[in-house]
Amino acid sequence: MEPGRASGSLGAVKRFAIRTYGCQMNQHDTEKVSNLLHHAGWRPAAHEGQADLVVVNTCSIRAKAEHRLYSDLGLLGAWKARAPGRLLGVGGCVAQQEGDEILRRFPQVDFVFGTHNVRLVPELVAAAEEGERQVRREEVRSLARFDLPERHPAWAGASPGRAFVTVMEGCDMFCTFCIVPRTRGREISRPADAIAAEVETLARRGVREITLLGQTVNAWGRRQGGGFAALVRGLAAIPGLERIRYTSPHPVFFEEDLVRAHGELPNLCPHVHLPLQSGSDAVLVRMRRRHTADDFRRLVEALRRARPDVALTTDLIVGFPGEGDADFRATLDLVAETRFVDGYSFKYSPRPGTRAADFAGQVPGEVAQARLEALQALLRSLTLAAHRARVGQRTRVLVEGESRRGGQRSGRDPYHRVVNLPASAARPGDLVPVRIVEATPHSLIGEVEVKESARWADERGEEVGPGSRTGSFAA
Ligand code: 5AD
Ligand code: SF4
Repeated sequence: MEPGRASGSLGAVKRFAIRTYGCQMNQHDTEKVSNLLHHAGWRPAAHEGQADLVVVNTCSIRAKAEHRLYSDLGLLGAWKARAPGRLLGVGGCVAQQEGDEILRRFPQVDFVFGTHNVRLVPELVAAAEEGERQVRREEVRSLARFDLPERHPAWAGASPGRAFVTVMEGCDMFCTFCIVPRTRGREISRPADAIAAEVETLARRGVREITLLGQTVNAWGRRQGGGFAALVRGLAAIPGLERIRYTSPHPVFFEEDLVRAHGELPNLCPHVHLPLQSGSDAVLVRMRRRHTADDFRRLVEALRRARPDVALTTDLIVGFPGEGDADFRATLDLVAETRFVDGYSFKYSPRPGTRAADFAGQVPGEVAQARLEALQALLRSLTLAAHRARVGQRTRVLVEGESRRGGQRSGRDPYHRVVNLPASAARPGDLVPVRIVEATPHSLIGEVEVKESARWADERGEEVGPGSRTGSFAA
């Protein structure tokens, strides 16, 4: 019997592992499940071979992510058969949509939980231990959904020094390509006092950076008359909090006061992930994005006036139904003009039940593929140029852990760029002053600066960022 396994060895610690397929919301749900399992006495397994429970946290944003569940379930069936008493749970967006079907088709699955039922996981696991197979995916409209236990002392979170904080969930926008309003349900904002209490607790425990999360995060409070910018201003004043981020805002909810906040709040990070999807007005209309390319330009200009060094990243879709060559060129033009520092780009993937899945003018796969490659080439060149412009600059890096290359530390600067550092230089959770010494296509390389003064430059004061140098980009 493998060490640490529960079944048969009374009193041994039960171990779990979670596979996470999706976006930051999905990652944060994994953190919530992990924390809940800690409270229920479970501990993480070093690897799945050691686990008594595997939870798969699924994503259905594109067909590829959804298919991954079905191929993984086969292998996990074999994993389960290798030792008695092993349990398998499925959560996330696919679970929300296909829950009953998953339990019916896959006998190896013990329980399924939807996006509103993360809180029930310990219950579902306990029932599964008694042999009960269940699906819980009912919509929970009450704020009780947000009431989760504090971080368990044994659960450090994904990365020391950083934390996600949910401020709203769901989406009421119904962009015609997007499955999210159907998997995450209606928009619901968490009360400001509950958000502030969570952030205060985190800051007291040494968290330096929080990322406010929501599907359309800056729509927070719009039905209650509270503005997202006011929320951010309140949180920015919490002692000990050195960095605030938020993701993802929708351009149509970007209030002037949020733009101003970027110019005024030193701890509001100079990075905005601002999904554009397309640079063509005709496509934007069919996507139901509710803004034009010019609206987007004006927003970007306002942000740059408020915070000249702001780094912008985005999401883009190519091959949306009806997208012609001229539409695609408009996307390339707007991307180049905006000088995004980075972007996620996707081939349109028809999602069953969404409006666009039935639109005429579906774009042939090879056309979409060629556009994706052209767009990605442009994005790569923008990223590299932005990185090169940073060489020689000073910044501060919140160290997260080992870099992908190993033997190094990796962290992020205020602009959300990955910065790799020599391993000995710093520990995860440290916020260290760094000089950028080299640019690579995917990250920056830095050296930790040793300063005489204990007071480092604040993140606004001494730094010069991506947008403020005219060396490689025309201003
Ligand atoms: N096909 C391709 N990309 C999509 N996205 C959302 N739905 C689809 C789809 N059906 C992309 C959007 C969104 C990001 C999270 O995923 O760009 O901003
Ligand atoms: Fe999907 Fe649009 Fe809502 Fe974003 S705003 S989650 S793209 S429906």
